[in-house]
Amino acid sequence: MVADLTYKLSACQKNPLHPANYRVPSPRGSPVRLEAYSAPGRYVPGGIANDHWRATPRAASAGHHRSIPKREGETEMTITVDRRPEAPSGPPKLDRAQLRKAQDDTLATPRMDYSLLAKMMFKPVDVMYGAKGSYTKFAMLEIIARVPYQAWERMGYWAMHRHRGRSALARRVYERIVEARADQDNEQWHLLILQDLVQRAGQRQNWLLHRVAPWLIAFFYYHVSWVLFLVRPDWSYRLNAEFEDHAEHEYMTFVAENPDLDFVPDPGTYAAEYGRYRSVADLLRQIGHDERTHKLDSLETMREPRVR
Ligand SMILES: [Fe+2]
Ligand SMILES: [Fe+2]
Repeated sequence: MVADLTYKLSACQKNPLHPANYRVPSPRGSPVRLEAYSAPGRYVPGGIANDHWRATPRAASAGHHRSIPKREGETEMTITVDRRPEAPSGPPKLDRAQLRKAQDDTLATPRMDYSLLAKMMFKPVDVMYGAKGSYTKFAMLEIIARVPYQAWERMGYWAMHRHRGRSALARRVYERIVEARADQDNEQWHLLILQDLVQRAGQRQNWLLHRVAPWLIAFFYYHVSWVLFLVRPDWSYRLNAEFEDHAEHEYMTFVAENPDLDFVPDPGTYAAEYGRYRSVADLLRQIGHDERTHKLDSLETMREPRVR
């Protein structure tokens, strides 16, 4: 597996968009991780504590004062926000040419060898939602995509509490928690964007397939993620990398199979939070590239899964 991973990482390094090709120091001391977030475009590092608020949609403009209306007997409060996010948070936002190249790179890269656990999730999803991609299938996948990050965040708080007497270690654990939260936020935007596309396309989502089934799969995935994290954290990261690899290929294949999407304008419903793209095809390519970034992050973290 190690040899396999090395091959895939070195294959990715030929790609100018690959994190290894940027030279920015990482807060965790690794030369790769933050570099992924400093790629061309306007990446805002969601993994850094004092920037995490940027992910919130309610950020006010620079120097803006927002007053909270007081009720009887209360003192008036004023919130001062000293700056405004200038770019959406998350992995690097790519331009048109980079998005096309990202699609070509994904389609030219073989899928990872999926484990039995990963296949146990992918197979029922294909049976229930169809082997081919669709907005409804992607919306369902995005519901479960953030589950491992949620599990890692929870385990991180547990570890922080356990190591609270060792401040340097607790701080490094906290950095991982912040990263897990940023990735959850990114997945959440994916879900909202896909759900918006489902509704605009007038597609129906029934209660069993789009409420109950995602909940059951997410429940399974969540518990598998934290149990694996407890016994073999590298396996937990590997499982997530497989899930992200699957998502990356699903998005890029869907765009390739539906060339008309290049002529459908991006509705821009979440443009302020996620950026605006020329077409729905580019929007989905960007989401696919986010999934690749998540995958590479998990593969990198696999090398040093425990915080020391
Ligand atoms: Fe996603
Ligand atoms: Fe993802």
